[in-house]
Amino acid sequence: MAMKIVVTGGAGYIGSHAVHTLVEEGFDVVVVDNLSRGHQVAVDRRARLVVMDLHETERLARVLEGAAAVWHFAAWSVVSHSVHDPLAYWDMNVTGSVSLLRAMHSAQVKRLVFSSTAATYGIPKSLPIREDAPQAPINPYGQTKLAVERAIADLQGADPEFSATILRYFNVVGCAFGLGEDHRPETHLVPILLQAAAGLRDHFAIFGDDYPTPDGTCVRDYVHVADLVKAHRLALAAMEPGDRRVYNVGLGAGWSVRELVATTRAVTGRDFPVRVKARRSGDPPALVTDPTRITRELGWSPRHRDIADAIASQWSWMLENPEGWRRLEEVPA
Ligand code: UFG
Repeated sequence: MAMKIVVTGGAGYIGSHAVHTLVEEGFDVVVVDNLSRGHQVAVDRRARLVVMDLHETERLARVLEGAAAVWHFAAWSVVSHSVHDPLAYWDMNVTGSVSLLRAMHSAQVKRLVFSSTAATYGIPKSLPIREDAPQAPINPYGQTKLAVERAIADLQGADPEFSATILRYFNVVGCAFGLGEDHRPETHLVPILLQAAAGLRDHFAIFGDDYPTPDGTCVRDYVHVADLVKAHRLALAAMEPGDRRVYNVGLGAGWSVRELVATTRAVTGRDFPVRVKARRSGDPPALVTDPTRITRELGWSPRHRDIADAIASQWSWMLENPEGWRRLEEVPA
């Protein structure tokens, strides 16, 4: 019988890529998503979608029955939104995750891969960032993800058989398998750049060019979504009872906002106006990982290292789906 994996947030950008990959590999995939951010049409039809909140602990425990593992993507993840509505983030990300852990405990599901973030490091004292760097988030989003990391560790203290791998993602780009990135409202750099290139925005705004970085704009480490999903697969395959593992997932290279503007212009062949605006609250100047641990321990070796290719994959998806997932959502097949 196929191994059952429950994927929370499987209708989202990263989760939908993970679901497709697991289904292709023959897993029995159950998606739990409240569709507050995700898109039903992004869920591979071979997976079973259960539309529900993580907060419904008892129902969730029933959904989890017989699962071998949980991949926990479901969360809100917009830094600036978390600054303005912190309690919504604590409720969604922390209370939701605690409910999931309770449900896992009662259904005796003991393997978890958790989506954490580079935002838990705050402003790092030095770059690149290793997993043992101090965690001092500078925004509520990072605080909530760190709180869940600690809840997992505490649960592991009480249940020595509970295994968890925490993946701290850096910035995620690219798309594959006919899937794409479609947030409403959109706040992420690459989709916004592409909307500007497509003429859907009259300009692109750089949020601050007075950071202590080489060109004054923020630097991020961009990892392709397919390589990120691969990290989950390797994490699951390596998991032993009682494991407590933490890995940063990024390439170990940084690109500035201005560099991405130039790359987007080159990839799309389209020019668009750029304006420098004030800094966005909660943004650290630079986040770049040291990928040594995941490379050495899991044998993770990212296949997509070219940011131009990653942006090109998103540009193709946008040209094929000018309204994102919306058109398909309005006319369900
Ligand atoms: N940016 C702009 N203009 C825009 C949008 C973004 O200048 O219109 C800048 C931001 O200020 C930031 C960079 O582009 O410096 C990247 O911004 P994103 O919103 O794409 O990503 P973040 O770095 O804020 O956050 C992302 C994820 C988080 C995750 C974090 C980890 O959204 O969930 O990466 O590095 F925690």
